[in-house]
Amino acid sequence: MCGIVGYIGQDDTKEILLEGLQKLEYRGYDSAGIATLSEEDVRVFKVKGRIASLREEVDPNVKATLGIGHTRWATHGAPSRDNAHPHQSTSGRFTIVHNGVIENYNEVRKEYLEDVELQSETDTEIIVQLIELLHNKTGETKEAFRQAIELLKGSYAVALIDQQDEETIYVAKNRSPLLVGLGDDFNMVASDSMAALQVTDQFMELMDKEIVIVKRENVEIQKLDGTVVEREPFTAEIDSTDIEKGTYPHFMLKEIDEQPFVIRKIIQEYQDENDRIKLDPDVREAMKACDRIYIIAAGTSYHAGLLGKQFIEKMAEIPVEVHVASEFSYNMPLLSEKPLFVFISQSGETADSRSVLVQTKELGHPALTLTNVPGSTLSREADYTLHLHAGPEIAVASTKAYTAQMAVLAILAVDSAHAKGIELEFDPMQELGIVANAMEALTDQKEELELLTRDYLSTTRNCFFIGRSIDHYVGVEGALKLKEISYIQAEGFAGGELKHGTIALIEEGTPVIALATQENVSPSIRGNVQEVKARGANTLTISMKGIEEEDDEFAIPHVHELLTPLASVIPLQLIAYYAALHRDCDVDKPRNLAKSVTVE
Ligand code: F6R
Repeated sequence: MCGIVGYIGQDDTKEILLEGLQKLEYRGYDSAGIATLSEEDVRVFKVKGRIASLREEVDPNVKATLGIGHTRWATHGAPSRDNAHPHQSTSGRFTIVHNGVIENYNEVRKEYLEDVELQSETDTEIIVQLIELLHNKTGETKEAFRQAIELLKGSYAVALIDQQDEETIYVAKNRSPLLVGLGDDFNMVASDSMAALQVTDQFMELMDKEIVIVKRENVEIQKLDGTVVEREPFTAEIDSTDIEKGTYPHFMLKEIDEQPFVIRKIIQEYQDENDRIKLDPDVREAMKACDRIYIIAAGTSYHAGLLGKQFIEKMAEIPVEVHVASEFSYNMPLLSEKPLFVFISQSGETADSRSVLVQTKELGHPALTLTNVPGSTLSREADYTLHLHAGPEIAVASTKAYTAQMAVLAILAVDSAHAKGIELEFDPMQELGIVANAMEALTDQKEELELLTRDYLSTTRNCFFIGRSIDHYVGVEGALKLKEISYIQAEGFAGGELKHGTIALIEEGTPVIALATQENVSPSIRGNVQEVKARGANTLTISMKGIEEEDDEFAIPHVHELLTPLASVIPLQLIAYYAALHRDCDVDKPRNLAKSVTVE
């Protein structure tokens, strides 16, 4: 949450910052701001609202070759211009942007800043005020910055500029993502490589509690004790065109359409020249050595985990528990003797999951991360990583990363089965190929799905999704997609649970979307459809070719029964998309949400 960017070079800083922030807007979009420095003049522009409004606010004549910027998802203090970053120290000498949450904010304020009149309600302002105070004592910006970083507890990625120094941006991070982008006569810092891809594909990772001195010609990384750290840059593998909408009206629609290609890419990446599964041998060993898997994830990734459990238990015969990351610490289950922790995270930055990783690493347990961002925190800190290969996902609502997570989990399950000598009549690559074709056919049915959305959801305030067995988990994801972007209250649950309470909510016209892709439970879920219909529900049954019935409103193409979630979620994604569109909701940037949830 929140995105930061900084630039020092020869070009038009305000343009580079605004363009970078536009790419980071998925991280938060309550308010935004930039600060530029030229000839000891710091200009700060900030707004409550989006980057487009910030662009209007910025003086087009401002000239500078150094600056920092921020796009905010509010934690401390409501979204407002005053709380928007950058924040300045009282004298105006120091200016800062920050992503994260300072946990000892109150203690620092009481101990050091009692006499300082704060201008905002943010935890960030105390950092810049503290730096000014320490600078008054030490007379040295780098030392003041270092001492401030030593005093702070919590998560942060910060970039600081000093009005009297046009040659430096001071940078540090702890548990919040931050990279340095390297150029010939410029350097950048950014929460995510996407913000700098327009100018470079060379990046340097930063580690927690390092102090980084970013100049035009070089970048120096130091530990808190002053030891200089040498680090090799890496080349970012994404293309800047991957992060453009192209002719699509929304990133979400583009990303829904990309799903068949993502599945084909996964097949390509996880298959060797002899058509066998190609997987890191250490991952294979870890799966073989464990006696129980604990999947840890949040939101949509948690829903993928629920399906991963089905794949792994059914095929590899390894017991699996799936836990919501934010709950794990309070309700830590009794662990088996040889647990393997599997973290599923599109961004690789989710703070709730990361805190479980820290906790389980302390207990000495091995960890595997499935992520779309290989250099991310969860990837770096786990023992092993499996890459999702979904390409950048920009829309806040996850679509292609979810189906990629399921595809990689299915491959992992089959590989583990093979490693344990279990014979399977299931060729994952062939079956995933069939899924990719089915996905393509489904994304071609947009018109039909838009009409269904009009019929079912145009006037409703709530909606129910029911399913049994693995359809149940897809329903839960369908409900999350619908509520997060269209604000229709939606609930997904097991069909059998209806009569244990929820059926009380069914009244004339209540939309109920039923998934019926599993042959063995088809009669039971159809029975549930009749039960709600008898009470006035407006039912929409999504089944699968081969087991469909005459009255079904929609049927997905036939795919392997275990892999139906990868296909059946597509009509649900498109229904959510059109419901949001018809209600004039901001599809890609739904209210109150952010793509990368880096606060607990
Ligand atoms: C919903 C959505 C979220 C994320 C969740 C975890 O569409 O995207 O529920 O799945 O915030 O994020 P990651 O996967 O980045 O750990």
